[in-house]
Amino acid sequence: MCGIVGYIGEGSAKDMILTGLKSLEYRGYDSAGIALNKKGKILLRKESGVIANLEKKTGKPDFDGCVGIGHTRWATHGSPVRENAHPHLSADGRIAIVHNGIIENYLELKSWLKKNHGIVFKSDTDSETIAHLISVFYKGDLIEATGKAVAKMRGAYAIGVIAADEPDKIVAVRKDAPLIAGIGAGCNYLASDIPALLKYTRDIYLVENGEIVLITASEIKIYDEDMTRVKREVMHVTWDAAAAEKGGYEHFMKKEIYEQPEAIRETLERRLDEGGNIKLDGVTLTKKEWGRIDKVYIVACGTASHAGMQGKALIERFAGVPVEVELASEFRYRNPLVNDRTLFIGISQSGETLDTLEALREAKKRGARILSICNVVGSSVARESDDVLYTWAGPEIAVASTKAYTTQLVSLYLIALHMGRMRGFVAEDEYRRVIEELRALPEKAKATLKTEEHIRKLAERFYIKEQIFYIGRGQDVGTAYEASLKLKEVSYINSFAIAAGELKHGTIALIRKKTLFVVLATQDALYEKMLSNIEEVKARRAHVVSIAKKGNKRIAKVSDETIYIPQCADEIAPILAIIPMQILAYHIAKLRKRNIDKPRNLAKSVTVE
Ligand code: AGP
Repeated sequence: MCGIVGYIGEGSAKDMILTGLKSLEYRGYDSAGIALNKKGKILLRKESGVIANLEKKTGKPDFDGCVGIGHTRWATHGSPVRENAHPHLSADGRIAIVHNGIIENYLELKSWLKKNHGIVFKSDTDSETIAHLISVFYKGDLIEATGKAVAKMRGAYAIGVIAADEPDKIVAVRKDAPLIAGIGAGCNYLASDIPALLKYTRDIYLVENGEIVLITASEIKIYDEDMTRVKREVMHVTWDAAAAEKGGYEHFMKKEIYEQPEAIRETLERRLDEGGNIKLDGVTLTKKEWGRIDKVYIVACGTASHAGMQGKALIERFAGVPVEVELASEFRYRNPLVNDRTLFIGISQSGETLDTLEALREAKKRGARILSICNVVGSSVARESDDVLYTWAGPEIAVASTKAYTTQLVSLYLIALHMGRMRGFVAEDEYRRVIEELRALPEKAKATLKTEEHIRKLAERFYIKEQIFYIGRGQDVGTAYEASLKLKEVSYINSFAIAAGELKHGTIALIRKKTLFVVLATQDALYEKMLSNIEEVKARRAHVVSIAKKGNKRIAKVSDETIYIPQCADEIAPILAIIPMQILAYHIAKLRKRNIDKPRNLAKSVTVE
């Protein structure tokens, strides 16, 4: 996630950039840096840790200038150390870049740069490649060189560039990562997000995918991929600073629901190489060690434990190893059967949940190998694990977990498929098929968000309910549990999730006229059975809202309402199916006037037993 900022004008670039970076702190970061162009020379300062460290480094008056770029980094490629912090310089030190996103083909570009231009890399990042690439193409025209460099890159990026030889400009370019340009008086700005600029200007241009921007102190020119000038309306921002942090959304929960396509892409793409092979950075298990594992425990709390339920299905299916999913608060009190052939997978967004941490310690004591799935770099769970696979969801501020959950699921797919391959269990064509399905996920998640208006209207009808049931079969059971938790925590409605086949063993007694059932029916293999379950509850005069894959028309005939998600393989459906459920919980809570981002009695990270 992290952020970029740029300034060009007559004032102090350093001051503006530091203020801008501080306003982007909510995006999360673990190092920060600034590059300035002063009298045809690039000055660079960067530091790991908090922005105060960078402030100390840039404190002297000789470090300033009228043009510069800055960045707060959240470690992805390479650890959060000074060398990996941005900006990155070209080998001759005359080009500086900041970059948000992922350069998917960076290894290929890196070896090309090493082989053909003898470049020695100073960091472990994918981003450094960009500085060298621009430098290789640079013949005195920064915008031309940047255009040539991005034509070679694949991935997602928002990039800011300055060149020592052109002190009168900043060039920026965007694809699948946010970028705006701000209009000042005698100066202009660049940033990842509006909050960075609010102290300076409220007039901005939204930069679109594929566009390249030339910023000087007096003008901002936007070009499309063919270098044709684009006419863009100025957007005047009327939000206050607090609203701007929410990106114009009313609540963090909604913002985070909408960030899911990008978060899924970040979590996924970094782990897939050119050939679609999974590389689990931060996971050091060897093929032999993967092969020795004879049991997996997935241990977590709340939403993370629901991700674990999906993880069980995935690991058992793709890796052929038996998996137990345990609530962290129960795990260490029941003498779990753990030994040195056990893989313990701890899942925690915050990485600070005490129950999960204590369970991890217990498993470690008993000899298990500890692999964690975490969203917070350097958190306690991450530090105490043997291996960590980070979810790149960016900071999650709303108490209700949304993007952390979907990225935990993505991580579990990666672990299951990789483990299956290392153990020779998953067939190659099956592996390839699921990778392709995963690759299509960010776009499908985007399409799923379009259900919002339909769901908002449904929420208007159902928000007064005092009880809602969620049912499903197979992987839809985990989704039902998560959907139900989402609803109860933000709306305070008493909701209940149950495997559909279990209904008739007791819970069916609760059905009365107009009892609301949300039916998850995304599993083709279990579709017929779910239709029967719908008939079963409808016969007792329940009201049914179904969630199904596009194209499944029979379900609409038997349900009162149907929400469609895009077509996808059964195994992938949980990631898409939860999105409308998050939206439903959000709108019901809003109509009930709840404190959506901070529901009563709840905390974002539960550091007590
Ligand atoms: C879900 O919306 C909650 N915020 C909660 O269940 C959460 O998932 C649980 O407390 C675990 O937190 P963690 O992922 O930070 O360990």
